[in-house]
Amino acid sequence: MANVIVIGAQWGDEGKGKITDLLSRSADVVVRYQGGVNAGHTIVVKGQTFKLHLIPSGILYPNTDCIIGCGTVIDPEVLITEIDQLEELGISTRNLLISETAHVTMPYHRLIDQASEERRGSHKIGTTGRGIGPTYADKSERIGIRILDLMEPEGLREQLEWTINYKNVILSKLYNLPPLDPKEVIDQYLGYAERLRPHVVDTSVKIYDAIQRRRNILFEGAQGTLLDLDHGTYPYVTSSNPVAGGACVGTGLGPTMIDRVIGVAKAYTTRVGEGPFPTEMHGELGEFLCDRGAEIGTTTGRQRRCGWFDAVIGRYAVRINGIDCLAITKLDVLDELEEIKVCVAYEIDGERCEHFPRNARRFTLCQPIYKTLPGWGVSTTHCRSLEDLPRQALDYLKFLAELMEVPIAIVSLGASRDQTIIVEDPIHGPKRALLPVESTSASLLSA
Ligand code: IMP
Repeated sequence: MANVIVIGAQWGDEGKGKITDLLSRSADVVVRYQGGVNAGHTIVVKGQTFKLHLIPSGILYPNTDCIIGCGTVIDPEVLITEIDQLEELGISTRNLLISETAHVTMPYHRLIDQASEERRGSHKIGTTGRGIGPTYADKSERIGIRILDLMEPEGLREQLEWTINYKNVILSKLYNLPPLDPKEVIDQYLGYAERLRPHVVDTSVKIYDAIQRRRNILFEGAQGTLLDLDHGTYPYVTSSNPVAGGACVGTGLGPTMIDRVIGVAKAYTTRVGEGPFPTEMHGELGEFLCDRGAEIGTTTGRQRRCGWFDAVIGRYAVRINGIDCLAITKLDVLDELEEIKVCVAYEIDGERCEHFPRNARRFTLCQPIYKTLPGWGVSTTHCRSLEDLPRQALDYLKFLAELMEVPIAIVSLGASRDQTIIVEDPIHGPKRALLPVESTSASLLSA
């Protein structure tokens, strides 16, 4: 039995979908704990390709329970479309469970997200426009609609009439948009409620029960560490907590019940939307990585910004998430490069900086200090073990593991499941080594 969290160690889109798909095979339960329809992964079923934004890809395994936890925000229209698409393909969604305390994305959230981005002009965040920030803002303001509110028609009517009238003032006065018709929205959402009702439960009870019965649980993070509301490149972040700690809050599970954290990082770096990105490559090389890596966002179709691997943010992700081992994805995208750079530290105002600066202005000033490694110049897409890899590719991976101070358990060399090297068991491998007791400070021990 092992309860494992899989998180993105960069700015999202690290290829978590493939890794969670691989690990879902040995999971009894797969849980999403934050984010909403801003996330997305493409899946291929019976030759048909489609996108899932909310339902964990574990749904493809008939005996796996899939849970959408309380830390997520749910756009019912999108969720119902996903359920319908899966059912049409003969994939049962009977095992899909939705937390009754997850918050609901409403039409005014999407409108406000898009209008406020426009209003921000050059200060825009580059959001996905799916209403994520405004849904979480209402949660904090304590005027959010939760899934359990949807399930009670009379209470919902009263709650939504007040909220929509309140939001209409914002839509019309602040953004010059036409007001929403409360009745229309209420009827629409009552319809969604009936579709979702069979899936709605107190998911924290289900998760605890699964733990008591020694079942394997996989917690699937969306987005990535540097997009975390508290630990990312604020304000250019999403509005939830993709870090490993978010899995406890976003499901109602105590931290003592987590066994392992797996960090997923690309062999280079990408970012969508605005915000600082020290190793970003402009020009031909950036274009090359974008083409070769098919770096187009699943949710918005936007081209991702590409750059070299940044070990400063990598080390930061290891620390903030307590990563035990890494999965490095898309190594094959680097196959044709003559040389490959890795950012080992930053220079800010003439000084060397080894740590991710929390101050956004300072982060913008960071100049990467690179170490250049030789490329390998041959395809790695067929490699199935470390011995198959060209020496330079192996050296590259070793260098990343040394810089990040964690072992690499998985290397991915293409989209398909078999284009993977399992270096060590990612679920049952050794816990991350800490400093030996004698080298920690005496004051820490006697505190
Ligand atoms: P929001 O989550 O739509 O509010 O967007 C906030 C920021 O997070 C923007 O820079 C988005 O591009 C980014 N973002 C949100 N979801 C994802 C994702 O799944 N992958 C990568 N970036 C994302």
